[in-house]
Amino acid sequence: MLHFTHVKVIYLYLLLAICTNSQDSTAIKVPEYHRLPPLREQAAIQDAWRDQRISNIPHILQKYGVDAWLMSQKEYAEDTVFWSLKRATQFSARRRTTQLFFANATEPIKPVYTWIDNTPEVWESLLDVLETQDPKTIAVNVDAEVAFSSGMHAGEYGKIKNRLGRKWNERLVSEPMIAVECIGTMVKDRLPWYRKLQETAWAIIEEGFSERVITPGETTTEDVEWWMRSKIQELNYTTWFQPSVSILDGRDPFENLTTSDQMTTINFGHVLHVDFGVTAMGLNTDTQHLAYVLYPGEDESDIPQGLLNGLKNANRVQDIVKSNMKVGVSGNEILKACLKQMESEGISGRVYSHPIGDWGHSAGTLIGMFNLQDDVPVLGDLPLLHNTYYSVELYAQYFVPERNATMTFYLEEDIYWIGEEEGWDWVYGQQKEFHLVKPPLSDLFRVQGL
Ligand SMILES: *[C@@H]1O[C@H](CO)[C@@H](O)[C@H](O)[C@H]1NC(C)=O
Ligand SMILES: *[C@@H]1O[C@H](CO)[C@@H](O)[C@H](O)[C@H]1NC(C)=O
Ligand SMILES: *[C@@H]1O[C@H](CO)[C@@H](O)[C@H](O)[C@H]1NC(C)=O
Ligand SMILES: *[C@@H]1O[C@H](CO)[C@@H](O)[C@H](O)[C@H]1NC(C)=O
Repeated sequence: MLHFTHVKVIYLYLLLAICTNSQDSTAIKVPEYHRLPPLREQAAIQDAWRDQRISNIPHILQKYGVDAWLMSQKEYAEDTVFWSLKRATQFSARRRTTQLFFANATEPIKPVYTWIDNTPEVWESLLDVLETQDPKTIAVNVDAEVAFSSGMHAGEYGKIKNRLGRKWNERLVSEPMIAVECIGTMVKDRLPWYRKLQETAWAIIEEGFSERVITPGETTTEDVEWWMRSKIQELNYTTWFQPSVSILDGRDPFENLTTSDQMTTINFGHVLHVDFGVTAMGLNTDTQHLAYVLYPGEDESDIPQGLLNGLKNANRVQDIVKSNMKVGVSGNEILKACLKQMESEGISGRVYSHPIGDWGHSAGTLIGMFNLQDDVPVLGDLPLLHNTYYSVELYAQYFVPERNATMTFYLEEDIYWIGEEEGWDWVYGQQKEFHLVKPPLSDLFRVQGL
């Protein structure tokens, strides 16, 4: 009995020693899947976030010097902002749903009015409130350029102008930053759940880019994409775009996305790329990672050095973008600063980073677009806002001697704003090591037998 325990202790020590030795202190822990709470609990969590967001609206109106904000829509013709203000149990607007927010509500006026009505009474009641509070400016979402601020349907806008009459029509204004800041601002309590979603996205990529899913010589990039879709469904999550898996061989994976040459068989020595996002609890993620397919019997130390250097180079661009994101500065100015710094460090690449949160491509300034590296019209001129989430999306090119080719290293990772002093941080992490597909030794015989 004693002997047995003794052996067990030695075994435990050995195990511990092996574990501690193989642990790289800078490595991120293995990402785990997070189950979502029951729907009823999810609704309560999301509604609490919504209440915090609505209580912030008067501050946003004050910031932009507008006295009131009027939104109105009918069932199935919702304003874009509606989706950020609805309760979890609302699935669409009903009848005519009209909302009026005040910057400085004074008794007996409330900060928010909501009418759900299908009779002309809504207009009488709205006019009563307007007469009592007498706002000098009333914002409506009719901007010609910013999607998030242009959600008032043309028919509804016509109806409102007709019903409110000349006095109030003259006070209608367009201030696109109101809707942008309302949708883009992420209340603090959302972060712990955003982190879990992000970790789940990493976990799906980690498993998808492993020998559990990929059999070199057999599995195609499309197989991995559909495996990821199934995994998302199994976890009761959804997504906002079809996962896109490609083999990096110097071609541009963003081109020819619909042609059949996407159907490519994964093999030993391939560098894999994925563009992947999940959606749950009103939040969206967006991640691009890279993987390397080892030959049977190989380990980490067999990854070509040129690939490791290429990834490191792309990591450097991620850090450059993150450190140049100064609140209040326009996306176009940030883009210029990033490209200048990349040039001075001898890195060639592109930056195309965007806000994320309520939408995959959410409200806020854009820091470049894939095809626009000089200046993004309108959206690039907006100022960067605090309390937002961003997806740092970019590529860096690197000459890989082992492949005798300049390869493109695409990365994308989500960040959140901590505060004036600290700036931004990764929501879950930054990919610093390739995901590895480690085929079993027996593959040697399988492949030879083919
Ligand atoms: C609201 O009240 C504050 C403080 O009284 C004032 O400075 C501001 O001009 C008012 N209106 C708006 C739109 O903020
Ligand atoms: C997904 O939802 C179903 C039905 O509510 C539940 O039985 C299952 O456990 C959920 N799966 C996960 C991974 O949360
Ligand atoms: C995209 O498709 C066109 C037409 O088939 C082809 O000429 C071109 O080389 C393709 N581009 C890439 C990057 O594969
Ligand atoms: C590397 O590529 C260049 C240009 O594509 C080619 O001229 C050269 O022969 C290649 N070198 C080797 C060793 O294959």
